[in-house]
Amino acid sequence: VRDDPSAVGDYIANYICKRINDYNATPERPFVLGLPTGSSPIPTYKALIKLVKEGKLSFKNVITFNMDEYVGLPQDHSESYHTFMFREFFSHIDIPPAQVNILNGNAEDLIAECNQYEAKIKAVGGIELFLGGIGSDGHIAFNEPGSSLASRTRIKTLAYDTILANARFFENDISKVPRMALTVGVATVLDSREVVVVVTGLNKALALSKAIEEGVNHLWTLSALQLHPWALIVVDEDATSEL
Ligand code: GLP
Repeated sequence: VRDDPSAVGDYIANYICKRINDYNATPERPFVLGLPTGSSPIPTYKALIKLVKEGKLSFKNVITFNMDEYVGLPQDHSESYHTFMFREFFSHIDIPPAQVNILNGNAEDLIAECNQYEAKIKAVGGIELFLGGIGSDGHIAFNEPGSSLASRTRIKTLAYDTILANARFFENDISKVPRMALTVGVATVLDSREVVVVVTGLNKALALSKAIEEGVNHLWTLSALQLHPWALIVVDEDATSEL
């Protein structure tokens, strides 16, 4: 537990920095990092960028996989997760763009796109550390309530609550929010060696308590982390208010 979102971001960035540096990544043995979008990870991205600029961290031997992407939103749309990731993070660090992987929500064959994503993760040896955020309904990536805890990368219809929550990015017009997304599955997240989740703000407090103080439950998909041998949830004071 840290005081506020900025302290949470600093903590996670320093943690990831140490993990990457201790790993001694090489081109033959890259560090594979899973990444989220959303407002919660922005302080972490800012702190990671600072570490890169100070010469304390490099992403030259890091391969990234993003958690999710909207279906049907043009890649260059200001709210696509592709645009978000380059704007908030990738454009400011030393990662070669070829080492960035983001699901293509405009692929002609969306099922094949999802299957290829899983295969690509496997081909690079699996994800070493998956950083995630959650929705206020407890979803991790876009694994909405009711998602199978054994799910893999697939197409998911967004829950009404998520559409409402994300309308703020689409001129507060829910008709402009995409209805579907491609997302890694709960099992894809659980397969990674380590999972780190950022949870900040009062609006996440109920989900946090459901996920860590109640049983493993597919209605609060973050709770699946209870089954993971190496998971860390970093929260601010506000997010603890229901614990
Ligand atoms: C979207 C993303 C999630 C993210 C969530 C929370 O639903 N698919 O991966 O965790 O937003 O966003 P925020 O951090 O802005 O609350």
